[in-house]
Amino acid sequence: MPSNFSSSDQAKFVAAKRACEFVHNGMKLGLGTGSTAAWMVRCLAERVNKEGLKVKGVPTSIQTADLAKKLGIEVITLDSAGQLDLTIDGTDEFDGNLNLIKGAGGALLREKIVASASDKMIVIADDAKGVERLGRFPLPVEVLNFGFKSSQLLIQALLEFQDVDSSIIKTRMVGDLPFVTDEGNHILDLYLGRIGDATALSLALNQVPGVVENGLFVKLCDVVIVGLADGTVKEKTTASNRKL
Ligand code: A5P
Repeated sequence: MPSNFSSSDQAKFVAAKRACEFVHNGMKLGLGTGSTAAWMVRCLAERVNKEGLKVKGVPTSIQTADLAKKLGIEVITLDSAGQLDLTIDGTDEFDGNLNLIKGAGGALLREKIVASASDKMIVIADDAKGVERLGRFPLPVEVLNFGFKSSQLLIQALLEFQDVDSSIIKTRMVGDLPFVTDEGNHILDLYLGRIGDATALSLALNQVPGVVENGLFVKLCDVVIVGLADGTVKEKTTASNRKL
């Protein structure tokens, strides 16, 4: 690892490296998206190229697919893979129950499909992502292009009845245009401050016509590996989630 790494890169790298120790020959893997997941792809590629580790990866975004292929990891589709052994991904927030907010990179839909098709999910993060209550980070909601303003109004209305501290909704933009996901949809970012009941909110959001998926990952993550700037890691598990 280069000595001019920032402490943030160092934390992401050590978490990614530790997560890759859970990967064994023959595994079918979900490959997450984001800057932390990119470190995991690099660490995995190193094991593939140096140790001859045999794995197949299902990327959660075009960006991750491009990186994995470039570094020599075999990439397959989720439909050809069927059930996956393990997904390793980053997160925007995790709480004490290992529930997550994901989607800052806009890949939440594929990430949730892939995580749900995996026997286990390891999340890699730096310490700053840990929160007592989810919601400090804006919650991304992926909506269809058709009528997405109508979907936004319906979401605004349902937030009145949810246990949240605020209910500001912003359309994610790139310049003057709405951001477009790999699936051709848009993202609404919900500034909620605090989410009192992630399960109830997730279910309610997914009932809104036009909502494709939301960034709450409830009871999907088995382990969070937290990388620290001093090069060590902490592993967090919870009894109620699936076992690693
Ligand atoms: C991608 O859509 C996200 O869910 C990422 O996994 C999340 O934003 C973490 O990204 P970083 O590792 O870049 O912080």
